[in-house]
Amino acid sequence: MVVWYSSPVSVITFIMAKLDTTVCGVQFQNPFVLPSGIITETTEHKRAVEGGFGGVILKSLTFERREGNPLPRMWKFDAGLINSVGLRNAGIEEGSQEVGEFIKTYGTQTPIIVSLFATKIKEFLYLVEKIVPLAPVAIELNLSCPNVDDEFGKPLGMDKGAAGQIVEEVKKISGSVPVWAKLSPNVPNIVEIAKACEASGADGITAINTAGPGMIIDIKKRKPIIGAKMGGVSGPALFPIALRCVYEIYEAVKIPIIGMGGVSTVTDVVQMLMAGSALVGVGTITYTKGMKVIPELKQQLSDYMDQNSITDIKELIGVAH
Ligand code: DHB
Repeated sequence: MVVWYSSPVSVITFIMAKLDTTVCGVQFQNPFVLPSGIITETTEHKRAVEGGFGGVILKSLTFERREGNPLPRMWKFDAGLINSVGLRNAGIEEGSQEVGEFIKTYGTQTPIIVSLFATKIKEFLYLVEKIVPLAPVAIELNLSCPNVDDEFGKPLGMDKGAAGQIVEEVKKISGSVPVWAKLSPNVPNIVEIAKACEASGADGITAINTAGPGMIIDIKKRKPIIGAKMGGVSGPALFPIALRCVYEIYEAVKIPIIGMGGVSTVTDVVQMLMAGSALVGVGTITYTKGMKVIPELKQQLSDYMDQNSITDIKELIGVAH
């Protein structure tokens, strides 16, 4: 892309490498996606669209309205964030209307992905039925919230059988809307779960969700800081784990990977692509530093590509293998 800036005295030309990419048949203007959950209100997601993300994954919707966990729900620490929001959301009836409006308003500008969380397979199917007519570019199944248990007493994504079963059932009713499965790093073998999802028809794997849960203690109060005592860990502390997961999953599946977890710098972005990510989630750093990091990362990625004679980000995907 050529960007012209004219000033009274001169015309300066900045050449930006081509950052656009196609994943699951969807065109993204750049590989950066907002991960689900970092912005907690649907209407607020417009900040991510305006911030220049290539795609936006909305906060997970659930069957019932959820008020969320006790405050504080998020806490910054040196190497990231700890959060236990408790999937606060309006529930599918009101939430799907908000999402429908959001897609109508912003969907032509930026691809919107809807995230869903359920504790029962039947609920997942109900949610998917409600969302498919709104035509998101993909549905992400949150199979991995560390703060809410499912009908088996743990997040569904912890078990390859259940994860595969959900994807299989969802795929029967999702029509042409691609289905991504978002997986947890809190398992002995994330690869077998990714493989089960792919075998059941998943169109993409989002890796990874937060790790832990973790805890921070207020030493003055002598108590855990987070209202729910513990929460999912994100941010730089998570990055090497996320990278390893993406790397391993890439060796085992053919479907695209949406890699995320602590990506904060352009070096992290390039590593994620080299490990095998087709799109790169950038979340916690936008919470701590603001949306301005997105145009910065776009420019830095473009510069990196120019300096290394790379014209298409696809040339970077998986090269570390
Ligand atoms: C929450 C949900 C998640 O999927 C996650 O990784 C962390 C927190 C939550 O809403 O509590």
